[in-house]
Amino acid sequence: MMVQGPVRIEMPDGSVVESDRFMVAICMCKRSKTYPLCDTSHRRRRRTGDGESSAGQRPA
Ligand code: FES
Repeated sequence: MMVQGPVRIEMPDGSVVESDRFMVAICMCKRSKTYPLCDTSHRRRRRTGDGESSAGQRPA
């Protein structure tokens, strides 16, 4: 989710994350290593284990 910066985010544990960027991407998938800020980890495809990607597959 893109929000107009600067932002100050208070986390449930009381810690505070701040960004003074013009636009800030907030992570909605919780995969980000910089959570609560998006690091584009949401773009990575999940592997099925057989070498194929699960993204883009349709049921037969
Ligand atoms: S929305 Fe979670 S990493 Fe981008």
